[in-house]
Amino acid sequence: MQIAQHRRWDPLVQLTHWGVAAGVLANGVFTDEGSGPHQWVGYAIAALLALRWIWGLVGPTEARFSAFPPSLTRALTHVREIARGERTTHRSHNPLGALMVYALWMTLAVVIGSGVAMSALPAGLPFKSEAASASSRSRPVATEDDEARESYEGEREHERREANQGEGSGAGEGDELLEEIHEVAANLLFGLAGLHLLGVAFETSRSGRGVVKAMLPGGRRRRRPA
Ligand code: HEM
Ligand code: HEM
Repeated sequence: MQIAQHRRWDPLVQLTHWGVAAGVLANGVFTDEGSGPHQWVGYAIAALLALRWIWGLVGPTEARFSAFPPSLTRALTHVREIARGERTTHRSHNPLGALMVYALWMTLAVVIGSGVAMSALPAGLPFKSEAASASSRSRPVATEDDEARESYEGEREHERREANQGEGSGAGEGDELLEEIHEVAANLLFGLAGLHLLGVAFETSRSGRGVVKAMLPGGRRRRRPA
């Protein structure tokens, strides 16, 4: 599609983008693995993603899934255009960017799905150990009782260590698998986010367009008289 790129992404795409990016950074760097804040940030990311995906069906044209279908053929064509030095512009994500967007979304879904399964699903389901479910049920609800929460986190950590030692107990095997999936997918997500940033930097220097600016809030620029 050789259409001039729209100036800015709409506010909902911007809000969900920066919200998800901040949440991923928070859970990757700042929150304690598996802690209450870690889970809440994870749920917030899930809510933002859900909102974005609804927007992908009903939002403005350039935000819709139909504007950036995942297509290897288009991505390869785009690579050839880049190699020839052609400066094509796209109304939505360019075909390479689109592949990255779907990869990020799918990986996020696996991270969130495995995280939720570890924390919140009832016992008796495949992948869910009785011990971990009991610990989910006994989680103190309010943050008022810090002591109870700390002791809960301590017990949870203890259970985790025991489960990790594994031998003979049998408990926690499903959770170990979920933990493994969660960890691998989270690391894949960080790797993809790094590539995403390289892609954004490359596209910015190649096209000379304000790619990042289009993801930042702000109205149309007005020319002031000199
Ligand atoms: C995009 C969002 C998320 C990111 C980037 C993320 C990242 C991580 C990372 C890097 C770890 C440490 C893995 C390890 O080294 O063992 C971890 C652990 C954990 N996460 Fe997440 N997480 C996310 C969302 C969630 C959600 C939504 C939940 C649950 C509602 C969750 C629950 C947990 C739990 C329970 C652990 C501890 C696993 C264990 O017992 O060792 N995470 N997460
Ligand atoms: C963990 C961090 C990040 C994640 C998971 C992430 C994820 C995403 C996703 C899913 C999209 C598609 C947006 C949509 O259609 O809703 C996107 C687009 C975009 N992101 Fe990020 N992002 C991250 C960090 C960043 C950072 C730090 C920057 C800026 C330096 C950035 C700049 C952009 C831009 C400019 C686009 C639009 C690309 C285009 O024009 O096609 N992202 N990102």
